[in-house]
Amino acid sequence: MALRTIIKKGDEVLNKRCKEVKEINERIIELLDDMKETMYESSGVGLAAPQVGVLKRVVVMDVGEDYLELINPVIIASEGEQNEAEGCLSLPGIYGIVKRPKKVVVEYLDRNGNEMRVEGEDLKAICLCHEIDHLNGILFDEKVTEFIELEKE
Ligand code: NI
Repeated sequence: MALRTIIKKGDEVLNKRCKEVKEINERIIELLDDMKETMYESSGVGLAAPQVGVLKRVVVMDVGEDYLELINPVIIASEGEQNEAEGCLSLPGIYGIVKRPKKVVVEYLDRNGNEMRVEGEDLKAICLCHEIDHLNGILFDEKVTEFIELEKE
């Protein structure tokens, strides 16, 4: 495993649509392992492959319940609404309120190629939506309804 560099806003790789993973090969497994290590090292709750410069539909996340790896994730259902603060490892120091569904259901493949389904509510729903947006080249600040100024210490 190795830490990868997190790409910051301004690099066009973050604005591109990622390609589906056709084959879960050694490179994808290595990518997942590296993304996991990089996410925990950065104290993030989620990380998408384009944030480490790879244009593949791969996400890792952990909102404090369980660690998840999602390959080719697709939102198949959503309901409700929530307006909560978000941030992003690629946009350090920027926080803002984003409107998201209260609950989503996502289908994806795990690293063994099994078809999986996960339900997320509250923070988990936010994280799933935020990371899947990354795979479509969308950064959260495009969706912010109100930016939050944090007091400097
Ligand atoms: Ni992000």
